[in-house]
Amino acid sequence: ASNISHESLEKYVEEISNLPKEQGWRPLKDLCLYQNFWFYPFFLQGALYARDHFRPRPTDIFLCSSMKTGSTWLKALSFTIATRGSHRLDGSDPTIPLRTTVPHDCIPFLEFNEYSTTTTVAAEGSKIQLYASHLPYTCLPKSIHDSNCRIVYICRDPKDTFVSLWFFLKKFVSNQTKTDPDPDPDQDHDTVSLIPIEEAFDLFCKGISSYGPYWEHVLSYWEASKRNPENILIIKYEDMVKDTGSWVRKLAEFFGCGFSEEEEEKGVVERVVEMCSFESLRDMEVNKSGMKHEKRGKEIESSAYFRKGIVGHWRNYLSDEMGKKIDGIVEEKLRGSGFRF
Ligand code: A3P
Repeated sequence: ASNISHESLEKYVEEISNLPKEQGWRPLKDLCLYQNFWFYPFFLQGALYARDHFRPRPTDIFLCSSMKTGSTWLKALSFTIATRGSHRLDGSDPTIPLRTTVPHDCIPFLEFNEYSTTTTVAAEGSKIQLYASHLPYTCLPKSIHDSNCRIVYICRDPKDTFVSLWFFLKKFVSNQTKTDPDPDPDQDHDTVSLIPIEEAFDLFCKGISSYGPYWEHVLSYWEASKRNPENILIIKYEDMVKDTGSWVRKLAEFFGCGFSEEEEEKGVVERVVEMCSFESLRDMEVNKSGMKHEKRGKEIESSAYFRKGIVGHWRNYLSDEMGKKIDGIVEEKLRGSGFRF
């Protein structure tokens, strides 16, 4: 849990209250526009705190992503790679953190101010400290821009990302309704649910989504990686699905702890891949039955992070026309950048 006092975050409430707002994905809160991106106030508060207080060490590594692009997977893989020296990965070691801890809780999250606590398992057995963030590159604390920290960015096809986001927030909303200790008496709680997918789609296409516009998020890291290719590694979810082993090797190299010949011979890469596969993570007891604590009282089932894990699953929920619409928008926005999904 964060050890930042509530008061020190309070001062950001006013700054946030002065930002432009948009009624977004009802019944979720309004989104606020900060430096050309849309944020929920809760995350923005943490981001502003980080802006003013976070001081990275040059060896820190950031796992960055927009929402629902494969960050759980990236965290599990990175964490396993970084800590592989202290655990047997053959399934016989009950102390493997991934078996007892949801991947998100293995790595401190910048917007939750978790860097001020020292009890992160990520530090254990590895020389590097991993952090995670959903902030666009341009909204990361300047201290990170000015550092030589390494950043891994994972992105994903916008259509699958959108569908994944809609399902996730739908679950989150229905959870809040069920568990809200202080329900609004004017609302009929049985009927509160997230706006229909078509409505959310229109908002997403206008860029109005948590940490959106999504394409601008991707562009922010893409442009930064062109300027600083040694320190910013961009991964596409679809590429990682196709050949996870190569990306596990690339990640390890990038972290400065590449696999030794001996490890290669022992099949350690394959074990990392297997342990972090969708099925393996989904079926772990901790991810099946646990709750991931969204800080300050809000919760979501850990199982919400493991829905389908299928490339192209959007076709079950969006029409061809909708698919073409978003592809068209993204193509236009990314034109000339050299990036393609
Ligand atoms: P779907 O909703 O399409 O199934 P994030 O982790 O950034 O929240 O992204 C969530 C998406 O990643 C979900 O996509 C989820 O199922 C998928 N996912 C989670 N763990 C995965 C894994 N180990 N391998 C592949 N995809 C995974």
